[in-house]
Order: sequence, then structure tokens, then C-alpha cells
Amino acid sequence: MRISVAIDGPAGAGKSTIAKIVAKKFNLMYINTGAMYRAVTFVSMNKDLAPTQVKNICEEIDKMEMHFENDDLILNGENINERLTHPDISKNVSAYASIREVRQKLVKLQQEMSLKYDVIMDGRDIGTVVLKDAPYKFFLTATAEERAKRRFIELTEKNIEVEYEEILEDIIRRDYLDTHREVDPLTMAEDAIEIDTTGLDIDGVVNKISECIRK
Ligand code: DC
Repeated sequence: MRISVAIDGPAGAGKSTIAKIVAKKFNLMYINTGAMYRAVTFVSMNKDLAPTQVKNICEEIDKMEMHFENDDLILNGENINERLTHPDISKNVSAYASIREVRQKLVKLQQEMSLKYDVIMDGRDIGTVVLKDAPYKFFLTATAEERAKRRFIELTEKNIEVEYEEILEDIIRRDYLDTHREVDPLTMAEDAIEIDTTGLDIDGVVNKISECIRK
């Protein structure tokens, strides 16, 4: 039986940082589903496809070969991770991620990955849709201010020039869009364990999750 761990929560709650560490500890493949939605946004924007051009976007997705290597998304043989976290992508990704047909295609790809590998997957709908039967489900939260602070530090360390206020606004706007969209909105699965990471250090959260998995 394959092992699968689901981690959901709003933008900047620390999902990817935590998931990468837990992946190493338990020898799981880390699947960053947000990166897959970002890749669709990246390709669509490069081709000047608006979120209304659903058919064309779906044709592009069919041409995309996506897999993960060392935590990074590889798109058609190229590591495009650096480009995916750019603020331009962050601003537009919610619009593409709310398209029903896009979600259907990506959910299918994610489920196929979970059948091939032992995975830890993070996103918004992992515990509720993608890995509904996962034995381990976690829902990470933190205040919007704390999450904006973390994103600000992360982007500044990558030498991307950003304003804290702009990031906070973007996070609040995305929280709203992610929780209010019609298709698979961000909600906590009934059987998920909620962890508020505000003021917790990374080790504290990793230990909590590791204890649950070991049990
Ligand atoms: O986790 P992230 O910030 O990289 O995700 C980017 C966007 O993709 C986010 O605004 C919501 C969307 N997303 C989603 O709708 N479902 C997922 N499973 C993962 C991300």
C-alpha cells in the first residue's frame, strides 16, 4: 500500500517548507500542487491566454509533462521553479486555478502520482478532493500578517524586490478567492488535524506531524 500525506492550508502557512522536511524524514516524494497551478498560469500567460479561454488552456495542459525532482517541478524537461514564485504569477494564479476543467486535469495528474509513489502533497484540496482517503491529513494555518512576513523574507532572500504591504494585500485577496471559489474551495477536511503555526518554529510543526505519522 502506498503512503500518502495531505497538507492543506492558505498561502504562506508554511506548507511547502514543512512538507519538504517531512518528505526527507519519511522518504516520500514531495508534490507541490500549487506549483502545478502556477505552471499552468505561467504557460497560459506566456501564450496570452486569458482565464476565459478554457479550451485553449486545456490544450496547453495536455502538452505539459510535469513531474517532481528534488522537490522541484520539472516542466517538459525544464526546471522552472524560480519563475513560478514571481509576484506576477502569484497575482494571476487564483483566476486560472478556479477553472473547473483545469482542476479536473490537474487533480487527475496528482492522483496518478500518488498511485506511483509514496507522497506528501500540499495544496488547498488535497485532503478534501485529491487524496480523500489519505490516512494522514494536516491543515496548517497562521495569521495573514505572519504569512505575509514569511513570504516577504522568502522573496527578499531571492533578491526579488517586493513591498510587505503589497504581499499582505495579495495574501488577503487570495485567501478570499481560494475559500470562496465555486470549485473545490479551500476547506479543512473533517478528519484533518489543524495546526496553527503562528509563533511556532519549523521544528515544532515538523515534530507534531512526524509524531502523528509514526503512530
Ligand atoms: O500554494 P501556492 O500559493 O503556490 O498556490 C498557488 C495558487 O494555486 C493558490 O492561490 C491556490 C491555487 N491552488 C489550488 O487552488 N489548489 C491546490 N491544490 C494548490 C494551489
